[in-house]
Amino acid sequence: MAHTSIPLKDSYKLFNHGPVSIITSAHGNKRNIMAAAWTMPLDFSPARVAVVIDKNTYTRELVNASGEFGLQFPMRKIAKVTLDVGDLSGRDVDKFSRFNISTFPASKIAAPFIEDCIGWLECKVIKQGAEEMDPIVGEVVAAYADAEQFLNGRWNFSDDPQKRSIHYMAGGEFYMTGESFRTSSRYSEEK
Ligand SMILES: Cc1cc2nc3c(=O)[nH]c(=O)nc-3n(C[C@H](O)[C@H](O)[C@H](O)COP(=O)(O)O)c2cc1C
Repeated sequence: MAHTSIPLKDSYKLFNHGPVSIITSAHGNKRNIMAAAWTMPLDFSPARVAVVIDKNTYTRELVNASGEFGLQFPMRKIAKVTLDVGDLSGRDVDKFSRFNISTFPASKIAAPFIEDCIGWLECKVIKQGAEEMDPIVGEVVAAYADAEQFLNGRWNFSDDPQKRSIHYMAGGEFYMTGESFRTSSRYSEEK
Protein backbone atom coordinates (compact mmCIF):
# COMPACT_ATOMS: atom_id res chain seq x y z
CA MET A 1 0.00 0.00 0.00
CA ALA A 2 1.14 3.57 -0.64
CA HIS A 3 2.19 5.79 2.26
CA THR A 4 2.18 9.55 1.97
CA SER A 5 4.48 11.72 4.07
CA ILE A 6 2.63 14.18 6.32
CA PRO A 7 3.93 17.55 7.60
CA LEU A 8 4.80 17.05 11.27
CA LYS A 9 2.52 19.89 12.38
CA ASP A 10 -0.40 17.95 10.83
CA SER A 11 0.52 14.62 12.38
CA TYR A 12 -2.13 15.07 15.12
CA LYS A 13 -4.77 14.65 12.40
CA LEU A 14 -3.80 11.01 11.99
CA PHE A 15 -5.23 10.11 15.41
CA ASN A 16 -7.27 13.07 16.61
CA HIS A 17 -10.33 10.82 16.30
CA GLY A 18 -9.03 8.44 18.98
CA PRO A 19 -8.28 5.18 17.16
CA VAL A 20 -6.58 2.30 18.96
CA SER A 21 -2.86 2.04 18.22
CA ILE A 22 -0.06 -0.46 17.88
CA ILE A 23 3.33 0.49 19.33
CA THR A 24 6.50 -0.99 17.88
CA SER A 25 9.91 -0.81 19.51
CA ALA A 26 13.47 -2.01 18.94
CA HIS A 27 16.77 -1.97 20.78
CA GLY A 28 19.90 -3.73 19.55
CA ASN A 29 18.72 -6.95 17.93
CA LYS A 30 15.46 -7.03 19.95
CA ARG A 31 12.16 -5.77 18.65
CA ASN A 32 8.61 -5.87 19.86
CA ILE A 33 5.00 -4.93 19.21
CA MET A 34 2.03 -4.23 21.51
CA ALA A 35 -1.50 -2.79 21.41
CA ALA A 36 -2.16 0.58 23.06
CA ALA A 37 -5.48 2.33 23.43
CA TRP A 38 -4.17 5.14 25.64
CA THR A 39 -2.45 7.54 23.24
CA MET A 40 -3.09 11.19 22.38
CA PRO A 41 -1.67 14.15 20.46
CA LEU A 42 -0.07 16.77 22.73
CA ASP A 43 1.13 19.62 20.53
CA PHE A 44 1.30 20.82 16.93
CA SER A 45 4.84 22.16 16.57
CA PRO A 46 7.00 20.58 17.68
CA ALA A 47 4.57 17.72 17.23
CA ARG A 48 4.35 15.68 20.41
CA VAL A 49 2.36 12.66 21.55
CA ALA A 50 1.64 11.01 24.90
CA VAL A 51 1.40 7.23 25.27
CA VAL A 52 0.72 5.14 28.36
CA ILE A 53 2.92 2.05 28.36
CA ASP A 54 2.72 -0.06 31.51
CA LYS A 55 6.08 -0.27 33.25
CA ASN A 56 5.87 -4.08 33.32
CA THR A 57 5.72 -4.45 29.55
CA TYR A 58 8.62 -5.50 27.36
CA THR A 59 7.72 -2.53 25.15
CA ARG A 60 8.44 -0.08 27.98
CA GLU A 61 11.84 -1.74 28.52
CA LEU A 62 12.77 -1.38 24.84
CA VAL A 63 11.35 2.16 24.55
CA ASN A 64 13.27 3.30 27.62
CA ALA A 65 16.47 1.66 26.36
CA SER A 66 16.25 2.99 22.79
CA GLY A 67 14.50 6.33 23.36
CA GLU A 68 12.25 5.66 20.36
CA PHE A 69 8.97 4.07 19.37
CA GLY A 70 6.72 3.61 16.36
CA LEU A 71 3.03 4.49 16.75
CA GLN A 72 0.58 3.22 14.13
CA PHE A 73 -3.18 2.98 13.85
CA PRO A 74 -4.51 -0.36 12.61
CA MET A 75 -7.30 -0.84 10.08
CA ARG A 76 -10.24 -3.03 10.93
CA LYS A 77 -8.75 -5.80 8.80
CA ILE A 78 -6.06 -6.34 11.47
CA ALA A 79 -8.26 -5.97 14.57
CA LYS A 80 -7.45 -9.56 15.48
CA VAL A 81 -3.71 -8.87 15.24
CA THR A 82 -4.25 -5.87 17.54
CA LEU A 83 -5.71 -8.18 20.18
CA ASP A 84 -3.04 -10.81 19.52
CA VAL A 85 -0.19 -8.39 20.25
CA GLY A 86 -2.01 -6.99 23.29
CA ASP A 87 -2.54 -10.35 24.88
CA LEU A 88 0.96 -11.71 25.47
CA SER A 89 4.40 -10.35 26.10
CA GLY A 90 7.34 -10.16 23.75
CA ARG A 91 9.43 -11.30 26.70
CA ASP A 92 7.86 -14.74 26.28
CA VAL A 93 7.46 -15.01 22.52
CA ASP A 94 8.48 -13.22 19.30
CA LYS A 95 5.04 -11.87 18.38
CA PHE A 96 6.12 -10.99 14.82
CA SER A 97 6.82 -14.63 13.96
CA ARG A 98 4.13 -16.14 16.22
CA PHE A 99 1.43 -14.12 14.39
CA ASN A 100 3.17 -13.93 11.03
CA ILE A 101 3.33 -10.12 11.08
CA SER A 102 5.44 -8.66 8.30
CA THR A 103 7.17 -5.32 8.76
CA PHE A 104 8.75 -2.51 6.80
CA PRO A 105 11.48 -0.14 8.01
CA ALA A 106 10.83 3.32 9.43
CA SER A 107 13.07 6.17 8.23
CA LYS A 108 14.42 7.77 11.45
CA ILE A 109 13.89 5.14 14.14
CA ALA A 110 14.98 1.51 14.43
CA ALA A 111 11.52 0.20 15.35
CA PRO A 112 9.77 -1.42 12.38
CA PHE A 113 6.30 -0.54 11.09
CA ILE A 114 3.51 -2.90 10.05
CA GLU A 115 1.19 -2.67 7.04
CA ASP A 116 -2.63 -2.35 7.07
CA CYS A 117 -2.62 0.78 9.21
CA ILE A 118 -4.11 4.19 8.39
CA GLY A 119 -1.14 6.14 9.73
CA TRP A 120 2.36 5.78 11.15
CA LEU A 121 4.34 8.08 13.46
CA GLU A 122 8.06 7.85 14.22
CA CYS A 123 8.65 9.14 17.75
CA LYS A 124 11.68 10.00 19.90
CA VAL A 125 11.17 9.96 23.65
CA ILE A 126 11.49 13.40 25.25
CA LYS A 127 10.07 12.47 28.66
CA GLN A 128 10.16 9.02 30.25
CA GLY A 129 7.42 8.36 32.77
CA ALA A 130 8.67 7.66 36.30
CA GLU A 131 5.71 5.76 37.72
CA GLU A 132 4.06 2.61 36.44
CA MET A 133 1.40 4.24 34.23
CA ASP A 134 2.94 7.71 33.74
CA PRO A 135 2.58 8.87 30.15
CA ILE A 136 5.67 8.83 27.98
CA VAL A 137 6.01 11.93 25.85
CA GLY A 138 7.44 11.55 22.36
CA GLU A 139 8.34 14.04 19.68
CA VAL A 140 7.11 13.05 16.23
CA VAL A 141 10.07 13.02 13.84
CA ALA A 142 8.29 11.53 10.79
CA ALA A 143 4.64 10.90 9.91
CA TYR A 144 2.93 8.96 7.13
CA ALA A 145 -0.67 8.22 6.17
CA ASP A 146 -2.42 5.74 3.91
CA ALA A 147 -2.24 7.63 0.61
CA GLU A 148 -5.59 6.25 -0.53
CA GLN A 149 -7.52 7.63 2.45
CA PHE A 150 -5.67 10.79 3.57
CA LEU A 151 -6.17 13.36 0.82
CA ASN A 152 -5.59 17.13 0.82
CA GLY A 153 -4.73 17.17 4.50
CA ARG A 154 -7.77 15.25 5.76
CA TRP A 155 -9.25 11.81 6.10
CA ASN A 156 -11.57 10.58 3.38
CA PHE A 157 -12.21 7.10 4.67
CA SER A 158 -12.89 4.40 2.15
CA ASP A 159 -16.32 2.75 1.88
CA ASP A 160 -14.48 -0.52 2.48
CA PRO A 161 -15.10 -1.19 6.20
CA GLN A 162 -11.93 -3.28 6.40
CA LYS A 163 -9.89 -0.09 5.80
CA ARG A 164 -11.48 1.96 8.59
CA SER A 165 -9.65 2.74 11.82
CA ILE A 166 -10.99 1.16 14.98
CA HIS A 167 -11.75 2.27 18.53
CA TYR A 168 -11.29 -0.08 21.43
CA MET A 169 -14.03 -0.50 24.02
CA ALA A 170 -13.01 -3.47 26.24
CA GLY A 171 -13.26 -7.25 26.28
CA GLY A 172 -12.44 -7.70 22.59
CA GLU A 173 -15.11 -5.21 21.44
CA PHE A 174 -14.27 -2.43 18.97
CA TYR A 175 -16.22 0.23 17.11
CA MET A 176 -15.00 1.18 13.67
CA THR A 177 -14.76 4.82 12.63
CA GLY A 178 -18.10 5.83 11.14
CA GLU A 179 -19.33 8.48 8.71
CA SER A 180 -18.16 12.08 8.94
CA PHE A 181 -20.41 15.11 9.19
CA ARG A 182 -19.73 18.80 9.52
CA THR A 183 -21.18 21.58 11.61
CA SER A 184 -20.01 25.00 12.72
CA SER A 185 -20.12 26.87 15.99
CA ARG A 186 -22.85 29.46 16.60
CA TYR A 187 -20.12 32.05 17.18
CA SER A 188 -18.53 31.45 13.78
CA GLU A 189 -21.96 31.67 12.10
CA GLU A 190 -22.64 35.06 13.74
CA LYS A 191 -19.35 36.55 12.48
C1 LIG B 1 -6.79 -3.26 22.52
C2 LIG B 1 -5.75 -3.18 23.59
C3 LIG B 1 -5.31 -1.95 24.05
C4 LIG B 1 -4.31 -1.86 25.02
N1 LIG B 1 -3.90 -0.62 25.45
C5 LIG B 1 -2.85 -0.52 26.31
C6 LIG B 1 -2.33 0.75 26.68
O1 LIG B 1 -2.79 1.80 26.24
N2 LIG B 1 -1.27 0.79 27.53
C7 LIG B 1 -0.71 -0.36 28.05
O2 LIG B 1 0.26 -0.28 28.80
N3 LIG B 1 -1.17 -1.59 27.69
C8 LIG B 1 -2.22 -1.68 26.83
N4 LIG B 1 -2.67 -2.92 26.45
C9 LIG B 1 -2.01 -4.12 26.98
C10 LIG B 1 -0.67 -4.43 26.28
O3 LIG B 1 -0.82 -4.43 24.87
C11 LIG B 1 -0.19 -5.81 26.79
O4 LIG B 1 0.16 -5.68 28.16
C12 LIG B 1 0.94 -6.42 26.00
O5 LIG B 1 0.95 -7.80 26.23
C13 LIG B 1 2.31 -5.84 26.34
O6 LIG B 1 3.23 -6.54 25.53
P1 LIG B 1 4.81 -6.49 25.73
O7 LIG B 1 5.14 -7.00 27.13
O8 LIG B 1 5.30 -7.41 24.66
O9 LIG B 1 5.25 -5.09 25.56
C14 LIG B 1 -3.71 -3.04 25.53
C15 LIG B 1 -4.15 -4.29 25.07
C16 LIG B 1 -5.16 -4.35 24.12
C17 LIG B 1 -5.63 -5.70 23.62
